[in-house]
Amino acid sequence: MALQLKSMAVIGAGTMGKGIAQWFAQQGLQVQLVDTKIEIAKTSCDQIVASWKKLVEKKKFTEEQALMFETMLSAKTIDDINHCDLVIEAIVEKKEIKDQLFKKLDEKLPDNCIFASNTSSLSIAELSQAVSLERRARFLGLHFFNPATIMKLVEVVGTSDVEDGLASQIASWFQAHGKEAAQCKDGPGFIVNRLARSFYGEALRIVGKENADQEREVDSILKQVGGFQMGPFELMDLIGIDINLDVTNIVWHAFHKNPRFAPHPLQEKMVKEGRFGKKTKKGFFSYE
Ligand code: NAI
Repeated sequence: MALQLKSMAVIGAGTMGKGIAQWFAQQGLQVQLVDTKIEIAKTSCDQIVASWKKLVEKKKFTEEQALMFETMLSAKTIDDINHCDLVIEAIVEKKEIKDQLFKKLDEKLPDNCIFASNTSSLSIAELSQAVSLERRARFLGLHFFNPATIMKLVEVVGTSDVEDGLASQIASWFQAHGKEAAQCKDGPGFIVNRLARSFYGEALRIVGKENADQEREVDSILKQVGGFQMGPFELMDLIGIDINLDVTNIVWHAFHKNPRFAPHPLQEKMVKEGRFGKKTKKGFFSYE
């Protein structure tokens, strides 16, 4: 039977949460965007509305569509979240914090609500231990890519506890809504983030220490010769150096500190200095 989704919530109104919420509202679902403080969620909703206005100017949507999307979107905190068919967690890449959140959501949301994590690297089976056994049957990984409104791929990650057919139903739902759904095994970094460790790690090892000219050169070679849309340095700035370091550490530990996956000292230095990339306007490059 085809999956019916009418309402959803995204927890974490940051880089990914905003894009995921925007995309689901564009599919006609009622969307609640949740963060720790209502002001953060409201600012993110305002940014989404501003993005729709720009898309109307670019003639990607009509004014009526943009107004309709806006009515589908609301800012919330966990305390005032309403029942919904699907909840997607997109908060910091720290297992203990995600565990606390999932416990709370398990108590608040109805039994039939599907739970998903947008984690880049944590084990879905381990995350699902935070919820009841019944809920584990409806707990998956749904890994979107940045920017979520544009990137077509969604990795759908099941576990041995997930009820038969649910991962396939969700994958079909995404396909029917214009995404490319890849069903993946629950392994460190799934498919893309495991492969991508070398893309970032080798680029960092080639350049060795901070050198914007060389970073630009590596980006340019991969784009011009390799056919990549973005080079590793500009992509790390887009993802967030902090998030990318967390993911690197998680994958590295999951592979028993295999040096292939080791974080680079430059990533650690940048995080200590608060240079997280585009979101702080400073990363490998500057953004004003
Ligand atoms: P971010 O740092 O931009 O945003 C995280 C948001 O979560 C912040 O607004 C923060 O206030 C909020 N938050 C933190 N704890 C919370 C809680 N307990 N309850 C509600 N909100 C809370 O992070 P980003 O980049 O959006 O990453 C989120 C998740 O998505 C991570 O698991 C990351 O691995 C994953 N991811 C990130 C990608 C990227 O390109 N940045 C790509 C794909 C997945």
